[in-house]
Amino acid sequence: MKTTGNTILVTGGTSGIGRALAERWHATGNRVIVVGRRAELIAELTAAHPGMSGYALDMADAAAVADFGVRVVHDHPDLNVVVHNAGIMEAENLAGDDWLAVAERTVSTNLLAPIRLTAALLPHLRRVSDAAIVTVSSGLAFVPLTKTPTYCATKAAIHSWSLSLRRELGRSGIEVIELAPPAVQTDLMPGHKANPNILPLPVFIDEALSQFAQMPTPAEILVERVMFQRAAEREGRFQSAFDTINSRG
Ligand SMILES: NC(=O)c1ccc[n+]([C@@H]2O[C@H](COP(=O)([O-])OP(=O)(O)OC[C@H]3O[C@@H](n4cnc5c(N)ncnc54)[C@H](OP(=O)(O)O)[C@@H]3O)[C@@H](O)[C@H]2O)c1
Repeated sequence: MKTTGNTILVTGGTSGIGRALAERWHATGNRVIVVGRRAELIAELTAAHPGMSGYALDMADAAAVADFGVRVVHDHPDLNVVVHNAGIMEAENLAGDDWLAVAERTVSTNLLAPIRLTAALLPHLRRVSDAAIVTVSSGLAFVPLTKTPTYCATKAAIHSWSLSLRRELGRSGIEVIELAPPAVQTDLMPGHKANPNILPLPVFIDEALSQFAQMPTPAEILVERVMFQRAAEREGRFQSAFDTINSRG
């Protein structure tokens, strides 16, 4: 992926990792388009960063995503990178009666939305130069946290989907890059942002962007902290990593 001169669409660009990436890419010579449900944050971001564009959109709404695909290509014919970052992580209490609703909205947001948006944009991405699709999985794709089973399953699915897409779309010159963050201080889950034991957002963004800047871009962007989970299976310590992660709190 080029580091400058791209037109990059970042879903979930209103906060956390997506917002930080959007701001950094904007500041380093890329045109950036952000998507999120919170229109007021989009207005704030686009006002603060002249040239940045934004769309208020619920990525879990299949029809809205299909319409948006048409609209964004019309508005930004030079769009060449899509970053499927929007995501939710909610605890699923298997002893309660609301976990199915949580599970279904998690699948819609974290898995179906990237698939739907890719379907909407793929004909366009096949036509442009320097096209790239960035998926956002998680360390939890590789060693799950049992309190969020469906979240972890969507991230494992995103990893698998990325592998297949990379092979299939590489033939058309479309790069597929998987960003697999470890726990990072954002509002993804209550308490995450203030947790001193997890990675501060700016530290994560610096390390991730230094890997994005490598040529060729690594197929997987893996900061050092995530290797505890990413490498657990191949290093023969999956069970101990699984036990460690699930013994906390
Ligand atoms: N932070 C971590 O520890 C961590 C670790 C591994 C992976 N990740 C992944 O990183 C990505 C970003 O998460 P984050 O940590 O930056 O959390 P965050 O601050 O909560 O950001 C999530 C973003 O997704 C957007 N979003 C959620 N549901 C949406 C929907 N239905 N439609 C449109 N946008 C939606 C939110 O925007 P609106 O609320 O405005 O819609 C927000 O901009 C997620 O995919 C997450 O799974 C995070």
